[in-house]
Amino acid sequence: MHQSQNKALWSGRFSSSPADIMRKFSQSLDYDWSFYKHDLQGSRAHAKMLHTINIFTLEELTLILSSLDEIEEEIMTGKFVPKISLEDVHMNIESRLIEKLGPLGAKIHTGRSRNDQVATDYRLFMKEAIEKLKSKLITFLDVLLTKAQEDIDVVIPGFTHLQHAQPISLGHYWMAYFWKFSRDFKRFNEAYITTDVNPLGAGALAGSTLPLDRQFTTNELGFSSITENSLDTVSDRDYLLEFLFAASTFMLTTSRLSEDLIIWCTSEFDFIDPPDAFCTGSSMMPNKKNPDALELTRGKTSGVLSSLYDLMANIKGLPLTYNRDLQEDKRPVFHTIDTVNIVLDVLTPLITGIKAQEDKIKPHLEKGFLLATDIAEYLVQKGVPFRETHDIVGNIVQFCIKEHKTFNDLSLKDWKEYHFSFEEDIKDILSPLSAIDRRTTFGGTARSEVTRQISAGKALLEGLS
Ligand code: ARG
Repeated sequence: MHQSQNKALWSGRFSSSPADIMRKFSQSLDYDWSFYKHDLQGSRAHAKMLHTINIFTLEELTLILSSLDEIEEEIMTGKFVPKISLEDVHMNIESRLIEKLGPLGAKIHTGRSRNDQVATDYRLFMKEAIEKLKSKLITFLDVLLTKAQEDIDVVIPGFTHLQHAQPISLGHYWMAYFWKFSRDFKRFNEAYITTDVNPLGAGALAGSTLPLDRQFTTNELGFSSITENSLDTVSDRDYLLEFLFAASTFMLTTSRLSEDLIIWCTSEFDFIDPPDAFCTGSSMMPNKKNPDALELTRGKTSGVLSSLYDLMANIKGLPLTYNRDLQEDKRPVFHTIDTVNIVLDVLTPLITGIKAQEDKIKPHLEKGFLLATDIAEYLVQKGVPFRETHDIVGNIVQFCIKEHKTFNDLSLKDWKEYHFSFEEDIKDILSPLSAIDRRTTFGGTARSEVTRQISAGKALLEGLS
């Protein structure tokens, strides 16, 4: 006897069916219908394995496989509309198979539970999603390398505490983000490795009395290894947490980058002109060009951080093994995948289109005594102890502020009043471009070092793609 269309596949033990509101409450189709391809893929592998252990004859397997293909076709052409009454993607597809094949279809769930089935679908789904994100991130990293090359000669003030600190190459700045995002890439990759383990065969929680061949499904599904413990397998969601953590640090990186760029777009700074295509205007003020894409990126970051917390809080108190709470693991992850994708889709052309406004940046280099450390180090080269030079230059800065002067306005006589070691060559120190090029420390802002970083970055990218 097989189930009628709307009857749950587990209804045997029940004398009445769930309340309508319970069906609505219990269903996960809103999310897990996205797993249909992976669910079919898992069923194909499971069916083939069942054939190897003589549960299915070859003819039966052939029928099962062709019916699964038909179901896929029906889904893709919109002929198969899943039913909420059947709870989730797993039971919808299984019910359709039973509709098609009767008792033979009813054999597909042999040795399998939705608990290992959902784990299998999810891991297959995540492997694809992470691969897609990784390739978008590689493109984005490449854009940062291009920007670094393009803007290597552009000198901007570098900041600490959002106060002028020392001059830096804008190329150096873009490379800072290149390295940050390359670590986010590494974390996505780690999450991929943790995900790439086959849960199928764990059953509901304890394995199976049937001689299931887990190595067979592992090969068939393209997983790199097999989960070791069935109890762990059906209760484990930490591969998702790892992904959410990688996504969270990625979003934090985009958010900090956005924050800088938003500041740089203000009339007060005016360092960059973001592309019109990624800004919006005001409904009232005709003068406005707002960097909304960057603000939205910063704003969307909180949603992703909350998703990590959402799943951690879900898991925190769960006893082993499967609990229905785990069905709620999809909302935060799906939201995060969508957000990271769209943020990469927006930031990639946005950053490509950013123009550095050198003429607007120049006057800023005159402010904030950016070369103070250079002057102190000039005296160090003449043998003056650094603490003393720090004090001397601090006094010069104080003098300049009082007199409304810059370092360039000082005569050699003025310099000498502060220390006899100052010579004519102090003038050579006072150019921002030479100031960046003197910082040749490994990882410093000298153009020679930025060039080295760009080559290292290129080599890294070549290794990734
Ligand atoms: N829809 C469920 C989920 O997403 C599938 C597993 C249901 N298992 C169960 N024992 N009720 O987690």
